[in-house]
Amino acid sequence: MNNRIRGINLKEGPLKGYYLHALWLRERVTDEINLDTNNLQRLYDPSLIDIDIFILDYKINNQLLYVRFSDKTESNYNIYNLHKEIIGKDFIPKKIFWSASIDLKMLQFDSSFLNNDEKLLINLLEKFYEYGFVIINNIEAKEKEIIKFAERIGPIIETNYGRIFDVISKKKANNLAYTSLGLSVHTDNPYRKPVPGIQILHCITNEAKGGDTALVDGYSVCEYLRKNNKCYFDTLTSTEVLFKFIDKDIILENKGKIIELDSNGDFKQIRLNGRSDYVPLLDKDRLTKYYKARKFFFKLCNSSDFQIKFRLKKSTLMMFDNHRLLHGRTKFFPNTGLRHLQGCYLGHDAAEGKLRLLKSLSN
Ligand SMILES: [Fe+2]
Repeated sequence: MNNRIRGINLKEGPLKGYYLHALWLRERVTDEINLDTNNLQRLYDPSLIDIDIFILDYKINNQLLYVRFSDKTESNYNIYNLHKEIIGKDFIPKKIFWSASIDLKMLQFDSSFLNNDEKLLINLLEKFYEYGFVIINNIEAKEKEIIKFAERIGPIIETNYGRIFDVISKKKANNLAYTSLGLSVHTDNPYRKPVPGIQILHCITNEAKGGDTALVDGYSVCEYLRKNNKCYFDTLTSTEVLFKFIDKDIILENKGKIIELDSNGDFKQIRLNGRSDYVPLLDKDRLTKYYKARKFFFKLCNSSDFQIKFRLKKSTLMMFDNHRLLHGRTKFFPNTGLRHLQGCYLGHDAAEGKLRLLKSLSN
């Protein structure tokens, strides 16, 4: 009874040092009885496997690990594939934090990738995930061209602003984005569930005086805050704030922290939008601390150390990570010329999924 093999400890190779639990291996069997070979989904529910399952025998042959289980199932595993899963190897590149000295040239692309140039699209998406934004030139200055670009990557997320929206000065606008006012740097739509991960803006015309674009790597600012003002950092990562949008058709609400961390303490999402945040009525000291922290974070985000400013030219398109980057614009003067951008949202699942697929096909 005690000799039952409950897991495997390999003595060499990439899996050396890992304990391969019997049930963990059993739920990864790849034969046709257990796995649909078309979609690689399990044909059984792994919760129904006997919790006391054990290994009758196993052997290694080159890169293959053969295992026979106590329920008579047997399977071969590619050792390198198991290792990739264990170490969490992913095709999504690591983020590179930046500040105002960033060289914009390396993030500029030509629209030719729209014509099935997969290598260029891989390069574009990799840069996007490293730096949080890319700029694409020579996208025809025509309405709805943005759809062609967005759908090259993934499905557009439709919201109450429409499938695509026009950033243009309007009377009685339901969002200040649709006026000529200057907008301090912010993230979009913190009141949605979930907050759209990617925003795309296509410049159809920008003839008005003013209306320059500002971008900030919010994660770079957060990292600075974590290192230099931990007290403010802790306040912004722990205070839950309500975000709200109201117009005649809908009331949108969502709660979250201004700086959201994941379970590893890594940055997950920023919500900074002075037009829509409502901190709850906390006790006096906590509120004061929160207001000081928000003010300092806002100041950093608007400082020339972190912020880049440039003019979005006609036929240029900008794609940015709305969870990481903050964007804004200076006031513009509609009586001096037309300024018309079209925008839409995409999900990170779609863009990451596209990059993983293209990379795995190219390897
Ligand atoms: Fe915005």
